Amino acid sequence: MNQQFDIVVAGDFNIDLLFNGFPHIPAVGEEVIASDFQMVLGSSAAITATHLAALGAKVAFVGAMGADEMGEKLLTFLKSANVCTDFVKIKKGMQTGCTVVMNQADDRANLTYAGAMETLCKDDFPYATIAKTPYFHLSNPFVLPELRNSLTSLFRNIKSLGAKTSLVPQWDVTGKWDLDFENLLPHLDYFFPNREELMRFTKKDNVEATLSEMSSVLKHQLVMTNGREGALLRSPEKQMNQSGYVNSNPVDCVGAGDAFAAGYLVAKMEGKSDEKALEMACESGALSTFCYGGNPFCENRSDFNEKVFKLLK
Ligand SMILES: Nc1ncnc2c1ncn2[C@@H]1O[C@H](COP(=O)(O)OP(=O)(O)O)[C@@H](O)[C@H]1O
Ligand SMILES: [Mg+2]
Repeated sequence: MNQQFDIVVAGDFNIDLLFNGFPHIPAVGEEVIASDFQMVLGSSAAITATHLAALGAKVAFVGAMGADEMGEKLLTFLKSANVCTDFVKIKKGMQTGCTVVMNQADDRANLTYAGAMETLCKDDFPYATIAKTPYFHLSNPFVLPELRNSLTSLFRNIKSLGAKTSLVPQWDVTGKWDLDFENLLPHLDYFFPNREELMRFTKKDNVEATLSEMSSVLKHQLVMTNGREGALLRSPEKQMNQSGYVNSNPVDCVGAGDAFAAGYLVAKMEGKSDEKALEMACESGALSTFCYGGNPFCENRSDFNEKVFKLLK
């Protein structure tokens, strides 16, 4: 296999306009002043790609943008993070996606114009490259209607090419919470919902009930994140908990789940045990809360190792 990349990452692709330092989310008719603003790389998939690259993986990104300045800015962000943008699709006559992110403590309110990214469809994927790449990751299918409707067949195809597959679902902006787990989960090696998302999907009000319902359809690994509490892994064979490395004063938690998934996947690429992978994932998630936006807090792997030691241990 002539392997150029460790992982192909696909999914949402937008700029974030990030507001921090304000007392409350404005009501209609009101104006609230923020003390901090930044324009940064947004979108779960692109953020995951930059975290993977910072941890040392060779990453190619698949997403859709418009032929505009915001799209160019996105490409610059990815390239400067060492992510290959050769497979990004430019959709003529469309605008690049954009999200206004209003941060409040551990959570945020988001307003998104999806634009070009929502036209990403299965014909946009570089299957020949995916066939030569050991990992494939997709994030945030709910803002990608074309893909959302063919999620099971997309993952079935990609798994049949030999890749290890993973999905970060993110919040179902359609409000339906109707993933077809029975048919989808067999094609996912790693499924990474956060706690709230997992319970919405299964329509349960506690994690234990959720996990026992999932167990009948779970074929591989479900890795649930739970904010500063850490994470748990459930597979047909076992259940494992990893307590979090608490950052009690997070700058913001944008992209923590994406940084977590990147940490887990890199550990797996390196052949680490599930236990070590959970640990590295929680380190990566926790470190991402030390800086604004979803950008990696660490420049490279040795910087990551140093910061884990200095800030978390
Ligand atoms: N305040 C925090 N302190 C330390 N780690 C955190 C904090 N918030 C999140 N994390 C880490 O990031 C991971 C993902 O966070 P979570 O909030 O569950 O996901 P999401 O960002 O998708 O909502 C957690 O499992 C944890 O490892
Ligand atoms: Mg998330």
